[in-house]
Amino acid sequence: MGLLDGKVAIVTGAGRGVGRGEALELARQGAKVVVNDLGGGVDGSGADKGPAHDVVQEIKSRGGEAVPNSDSVTDWAGAENLVGTAIDTFGKLDILVNNAGILRDRMIVKMTEEDFDSVIAVHLKGTFACTHHAASYWREQSKAGNQPRAAIVNTVSSAGLQGNIGQANYGAAKAGIAALTVITSLELQQYGVRANAIAPGGATRMSGGVISDEAKQAIADAEAAGEFHRLDPGNSAPMVAWLASDEALHVTGQVFKAVGNEIAHYRPWSLGASAENLTREGPARWDPARITNVVNTDIFGCRNGGLRMRPGGG
Ligand SMILES: NC(=O)c1ccc[n+]([C@@H]2O[C@H](COP(=O)([O-])OP(=O)(O)OC[C@H]3O[C@@H](n4cnc5c(N)ncnc54)[C@H](O)[C@@H]3O)[C@@H](O)[C@H]2O)c1
Repeated sequence: MGLLDGKVAIVTGAGRGVGRGEALELARQGAKVVVNDLGGGVDGSGADKGPAHDVVQEIKSRGGEAVPNSDSVTDWAGAENLVGTAIDTFGKLDILVNNAGILRDRMIVKMTEEDFDSVIAVHLKGTFACTHHAASYWREQSKAGNQPRAAIVNTVSSAGLQGNIGQANYGAAKAGIAALTVITSLELQQYGVRANAIAPGGATRMSGGVISDEAKQAIADAEAAGEFHRLDPGNSAPMVAWLASDEALHVTGQVFKAVGNEIAHYRPWSLGASAENLTREGPARWDPARITNVVNTDIFGCRNGGLRMRPGGG
């Protein structure tokens, strides 16, 4: 008995890294899986059907059911075809894991229009395109009287939630996906669809730094032996399987960190201290000259102005 027996799932970018681990875990938990991967370089260049096929073979060799798909999530018609592949092959769709991603890290002054657009296209537009087509299917099902019990799990990053130098494109896309997750949860609740997100981790070609051959081998050995390795990108997958399952029917619109052996809950943006401008005549527009003092004392709670931002000084 698995947590996902009888469910049908799509995992995008599932030919490598975090997505591969998710596809394997969803299949281990009983889901039939569409393994999507364009198979390009880490910067989004090129394409190769090999990685998606390899993961499908791995799932089948373990007794699971899977089918490959090599559409790009950036392509509107491709995303529609991806959703159609699940329905045509396995008869329905219950789970969408939006994981595909690329990187084009540069400082803002060096970042080209293409660096920005291509990263936004894969992460943010790709997540929206797959969500749109899956949501259209679930809405149809709901209107036909087959209320879905469906789940979307999106992929964010601390770069978007906390910021990271050199990742303006990537961080903006990931912050956008966090917001999209909340809006998706609000809009699709009526159709029986939940939406959550995880910030995963693990040593992949995208995680940066040089991973030594010894480290790669140690991760592979641990995976083959069914042992825990803290850098295994598959460590994020159990949280995805749980969020996708009916065990998490009470969880929607949430963002979690799922890295190594840690699960943590991200608090959403929320209002902190506030101040209102009230005069003898009643509420009034602020005079900008008064705001320094109000921000330092009432908002930052710091009377000496120590939190004031200085040009070039931070
Ligand atoms: N590895 C980490 O530490 C880490 C940390 C935070 C977030 N993430 C996120 O996890 C996700 C997976 O990253 P990863 O580290 O496994 O990287 P990865 O490069 O190993 O895997 C990403 C996969 O997405 C595929 N892909 C790229 N563009 C695609 C497209 N247009 N359509 C379909 N597939 C496409 C690639 O071919 C690749 O197989 C990404 O969203 C990434 O931002 C990873």
